[in-house]
Amino acid sequence: MILKNQVAIITGASRGIGKEIALTFAKEGARVVLCATNRERLSQAAQQIETESGVKPLFFTFDIREAKEMSEVVKKTLDTHTRIDILVNNAGITRDQLLVMMPEEDWDAVLCVNLKSVFLFTKAVAKAMIRQRSGRIINVSSVIGITGNAGQANYAASKGGIIAFTKSAAQELGKRNITVNAIAPGFIETDMTAPLENQAKEDVRKRIPLGRLGVPNDVAQVALFLASKQSSYITGQVIRVDGGINM
Ligand SMILES: NC(=O)c1ccc[n+]([C@@H]2O[C@H](COP(=O)([O-])OP(=O)(O)OC[C@H]3O[C@@H](n4cnc5c(N)ncnc54)[C@H](O)[C@@H]3O)[C@@H](O)[C@H]2O)c1
Repeated sequence: MILKNQVAIITGASRGIGKEIALTFAKEGARVVLCATNRERLSQAAQQIETESGVKPLFFTFDIREAKEMSEVVKKTLDTHTRIDILVNNAGITRDQLLVMMPEEDWDAVLCVNLKSVFLFTKAVAKAMIRQRSGRIINVSSVIGITGNAGQANYAASKGGIIAFTKSAAQELGKRNITVNAIAPGFIETDMTAPLENQAKEDVRKRIPLGRLGVPNDVAQVALFLASKQSSYITGQVIRVDGGINM
């Protein structure tokens, strides 16, 4: 098993990409710690992970904007498992609107959930990882953080910010044997992208060299690689998982 007995915290783990990453890690022997906002959905995800992997996850429901809650999660994880090997900062939201019409609170909400939480959670786990002299931090950005997108100025800024943060954290933490990398997914079929009309999805699909939309497992497999020993000489990188739509 690739992650046998490794302890992994995954945010946004109740559904979509985060749930798939948690399931993939658990099937590879990791002891997973799940975070999300919706208690019922998170508890169902934890049950599914236990059934399919035999690993009983710890799980915590809270708003990722709360720094105090994150410290609690870190403390409880250390109390139970004594170490934290992997952090996946995956939780994210969209509040799309043309920038001239974008309410300030939608800017703040997206920057806070998508970017500030990455800083806060990384800071919260870094001490434990520094003590251990090892760690893997994986931040879920987006191709939109590289290219920008009309109607997504807030989301693009948050995802571009994650990339800049990833490179800075990689430089600070590298000497402690902690790698920090980002994944930039393209169009992945989840609840986040479900509201898009079929015709719009088809238009996107036609632009993808690999000829299909992505699924959460496409991202989870790259997260598994970045969490594994196989990636031990890779840090500060952004890996695009987008079927080639953005080269
Ligand atoms: N789906 C895509 O096409 C796509 C593409 C590029 C990047 N991404 C990124 O991948 C990540 C996962 O996306 P997804 O498609 O699985 O989304 P999703 O909407 O299905 O899941 C989002 C998860 O984030 C959690 N979350 C949202 N707000 C939170 C908050 N305030 N506090 C705590 N948790 C919160 C939710 O509980 C949920 O578990 C996001 O960061 C997203 O921006 C997705």
